[in-house]
Amino acid sequence: MQFRGDIPTPALLLDLDAFESNITAMAAHLLVRGKAFRPHGKTHKCPEVARALINAGAIGCCAARLAEAEVFADHGIPGLLITTAVIGRDKIARAVALAKRAPDTIYCVDDPDNVRELNAAAARAGVNVRVAIDLYFGRTGVLPGPPALALARNIASLAHLTLVGLQSYDGDAAHTTPFEARWARTDGSMAKAIETRALIERDGIPCPMVTGGSTGTYRFDAENPGMTELQPGSFVFMDLDYGRIGGPDGREYRDFKNALTVVTTVVSRPHGFAIVDGGYKAFSTDRPFTPKPVDLPGVTYGWAGDEHGRLNLTDSPREVKVGHRIEFIPPHCDPTVNLYDHLYALRGDRVEGVWPIAARGKSQ
Ligand SMILES: Cc1ncc(COP(=O)(O)O)c(C=O)c1O
Repeated sequence: MQFRGDIPTPALLLDLDAFESNITAMAAHLLVRGKAFRPHGKTHKCPEVARALINAGAIGCCAARLAEAEVFADHGIPGLLITTAVIGRDKIARAVALAKRAPDTIYCVDDPDNVRELNAAAARAGVNVRVAIDLYFGRTGVLPGPPALALARNIASLAHLTLVGLQSYDGDAAHTTPFEARWARTDGSMAKAIETRALIERDGIPCPMVTGGSTGTYRFDAENPGMTELQPGSFVFMDLDYGRIGGPDGREYRDFKNALTVVTTVVSRPHGFAIVDGGYKAFSTDRPFTPKPVDLPGVTYGWAGDEHGRLNLTDSPREVKVGHRIEFIPPHCDPTVNLYDHLYALRGDRVEGVWPIAARGKSQ
């Protein structure tokens, strides 16, 4: 049997109690409100996590990329929704091959030429491909309203595609602060999606699904009668970034627990500092703040290179020696997870599982 202290560092740790509590909280919140739950797999890229979510009532799993979806399908995860468009001949051929073995997979589209190519490839393979129109809220997508209706008509005219709904993810809403502004932002964006769905259906084209939402907006989206399903991701793990968006009391966002940490070892102890074996290759670096040590209040982390980090021990509440292990909450969970081959699933200090992050690096 392996214990926390035996795990070679740096390593990704998952606190199973916190993880299960996060899943139960989100699933209960959505299911009670009659919303389907298709959490985003880009956060965890881990079939074991996807399975735990399905066991809790999720209808499937979103994937950011085709390659990620292929990995989830290889592991028997149903109900895949690929939230970015599949562009180019080779990828379209792979998408159609995936549709053959996982026929409930949904593909997002926002471009008429891409839609035509997808239909032609589906015709050649003799399959029907389910598509969702990606609506624009600042990144990819077609504008809600008449431009989306034009694309829906286009899809409806093609024999090998079926329109299943609207992909309506407003990424900027997720981290809007304060709480009330986040509410207003997501309600405004989702209203456009819901009006677009009505416009398409008035045209005689079925458009049953409106999916979107995030860890930051789920409370509001879940109250919105027009949303049929939600696709939050980060809530399974949480991170420092999400803690900072603020809750209804204006303070830290505490709807979910920090379940993910990175454990490092102190490898050198220059005067006043401790050097740990976790640097740019152990944590995400895309945020303007650094990993937070667990159980070392007053101690700050600074980058010290690819393989190292530097802890300033001036205000350390305890002695820190070479060989000590120090855990950190990462700044941003998704890109941190993508740095590791496995995560160690812990019940207390006992390793209950070593779960492959099977879709790690699968960005193609
Ligand atoms: C399309 C899409 N849906 C859902 C999510 C999940 O958002 P979060 O991790 O903020 O819950 C993301 C995250 O980037 C996303 O890109």
